Amino acid sequence: MSRTMQPTCDSHVSSMLNLSSTGSTFRVVVGVTGSVAAMKLPLLVSQLLEIPGIDVRVVTTDHATHFYNVAEVPVHVYTDKDEWEIFKTRSDPVLHIELRRWANLLVIAPLDANTLGKIASGICDNLLTCIVRAWDTSRPLLFCPAMNTAMWQHPITAQQVATLQGFGYVEIPCIYKKLVCGDEGKGAMAEVSTIVDAIRKYLPRPAEKITAHVDKH
Ligand SMILES: Cc1cc2nc3c(=O)[nH]c(=O)nc-3n(C[C@H](O)[C@H](O)[C@H](O)COP(=O)(O)O)c2cc1C
Repeated sequence: MSRTMQPTCDSHVSSMLNLSSTGSTFRVVVGVTGSVAAMKLPLLVSQLLEIPGIDVRVVTTDHATHFYNVAEVPVHVYTDKDEWEIFKTRSDPVLHIELRRWANLLVIAPLDANTLGKIASGICDNLLTCIVRAWDTSRPLLFCPAMNTAMWQHPITAQQVATLQGFGYVEIPCIYKKLVCGDEGKGAMAEVSTIVDAIRKYLPRPAEKITAHVDKH
């Protein structure tokens, strides 16, 4: 039996989980944080869905929701509120564990300075950072930094990016651009096409089987 559909789930919880998909699907969780580049979330998800055999869910921080219209995102978007609405009693599923089991790949696009710092130091105080903290590091985790140039140039940024790389996470580097705040320089999120191309590299070749994630928490 799939670990994403435990016998303890009633139908209400199962529909809130919304994590059923066929075993042959490559499952991607897109994490989105409070950078202005979160505006590109609908485009990123739409382009990912064009890849055959891919299934996508979004996990958002509360601040990220200021930058996109959830109605324009064509897949389920999980929030911190969902974590606590699904977990009411001891036998209920824990959403961040269900999502880390479900996903074959996690991409955080954009990754803002705040969540970068939290991940680098192991803080897990919301749904997204709990997934990252519980992540199976044998699975790909891609991150796309996006921040103001002054933030990017601060010496702590390079240290924190290096820490994430040390965990085996893959940086999709930010680019040079005129930013929304008017500053010009490095710090803009990579182009959506670059992010999609990076994810494509992890798709299984046709003969490869995608293994389900079975573990205990
Ligand atoms: C209009 C606006 C744009 C912002 N853009 C960015 C950004 O591009 N990168 C960044 O690191 N922080 C940016 N911030 C700051 C983050 O939103 C802030 O640090 C927030 O606490 C991040 O929370 P989160 O990491 O939980 O999403 C911006 C804030 C505002 C108000």
